[in-house]
Amino acid sequence: MKIASANSQSTTHLLRCVKCGTVQEDVSPMFRCGRCSELLEVVYPGFEDRLRNDAANLKQVWQQRRLSSAPEDSSGVWRFRELLPQVEPQHVVTMGEGNTPLVSLQKTARALGLHHLLIKHQGMNPTGSFKDTGISAAITMAKAEGFSCVCCASTGNTSASVAAYAARGGMKSVVLLPSGQVTTGKLAQALEYGAHVLQLQTDFDGCLRLLEQLVQKLPIYLLNSLNPYRLEGQKTVAFELMEQLNWQVPDHVIVPGGNLGNSSALGKGFLELRDLGLIASVPRISVIQAAGANPLVRSMRETGGKDLIPVNPETRATAIRIGSPASWRKAVAVLKNTGGVAEDVSEDEIAAAKADLGAEGIGCEPASAATLAGLKKLVRSGFVKCDETVVLVLTGHMLKDIDYVAQMHGPRLAQPVEANAATVLSALEKIYAKS
Ligand code: F0G
Repeated sequence: MKIASANSQSTTHLLRCVKCGTVQEDVSPMFRCGRCSELLEVVYPGFEDRLRNDAANLKQVWQQRRLSSAPEDSSGVWRFRELLPQVEPQHVVTMGEGNTPLVSLQKTARALGLHHLLIKHQGMNPTGSFKDTGISAAITMAKAEGFSCVCCASTGNTSASVAAYAARGGMKSVVLLPSGQVTTGKLAQALEYGAHVLQLQTDFDGCLRLLEQLVQKLPIYLLNSLNPYRLEGQKTVAFELMEQLNWQVPDHVIVPGGNLGNSSALGKGFLELRDLGLIASVPRISVIQAAGANPLVRSMRETGGKDLIPVNPETRATAIRIGSPASWRKAVAVLKNTGGVAEDVSEDEIAAAKADLGAEGIGCEPASAATLAGLKKLVRSGFVKCDETVVLVLTGHMLKDIDYVAQMHGPRLAQPVEANAATVLSALEKIYAKS
């Protein structure tokens, strides 16, 4: 039995090359085009025609599923299954991913002179990052295809998510990490969830290149965002966000960029909603990179997005320490199709933005704070205007990178205070005197 659909007709899908358009008959383990080696995307032939008449109904169906306790209904991914590949319910691997909060940032908005500033906190997913939506979708496909082992290269979050979802799905996982460049919290997650962890003496790009060779030789399923099903899961954040905004399209959505799967997914989600007539326009999707790991920004500036300019990445925002992003071509298309921009920010700008978010009670990891740092620049340049609505996508939870926080607040990690009332009172009097 297929998962019930709002529409009686099934959603079939194809994998198509994003560059030459070839529809793939046999899909390679690296999910690259058999003709030109570019990445693939999932397409649903004729889905607009099939679903358009039911489009208004879809909004209701998706909303109603929130009330159901069935795993595939309470998942913030599978709840939107009319716009996903069709799978058997027993193959769905879910932990209730998605369903993340949308919160307004009032102090920061005032400081920037903006009327409407919101964060969509994807760090509130089961393993603490946005990866869970994509991994739920892709590992479900792996299960449906009969794989018993999955793998990824990672700057940390993907590996945490892959390890957890593999454990949930009763599968083995292998993760390749750049040695010394993954935070302890993320490494701990992969270990705790039972992944085979290999820390390699190279960077993320090197790990991914090596993995390309391994999946040709071993029966393991690739879960990096080259896998187009990852993007199908991650695009659902656009659906959920629109639901939360009562289908009023924001002017800007800003995401951090690393391997560029997430920006590509977000763009795909919004464009599909528009093609279905569920929204009238799409937001400008802008991508923010760390200045030391800014291949997309350089490619846009120096070639107008025609060619990728790889860089030797260096940033303390380790999640986005990537020099040769796999999905650059998809991300360029999203910038062009939505009218967004690519911008880069310094390490100090990231740290300041992270502190601003913290002061509003919002924790996130440094890569996520890059979005606010980028927004400040985009407001200054006039690209974002004061009456526009902006949504920042925060991608990872603050506790993912405790070392960064400890370094930032080092001086405030004060010496222990003697445990007697007089000493504590005197310490507090000093604090009150300052405020
Ligand atoms: N933010 C966080 C917290 C991330 O972990 C990543 C990527 C990104 C942003 C960038 O997203 O790659 O889709 O452009 N982390 C990957 C990983 C690379 O292995 O965990 P992207």
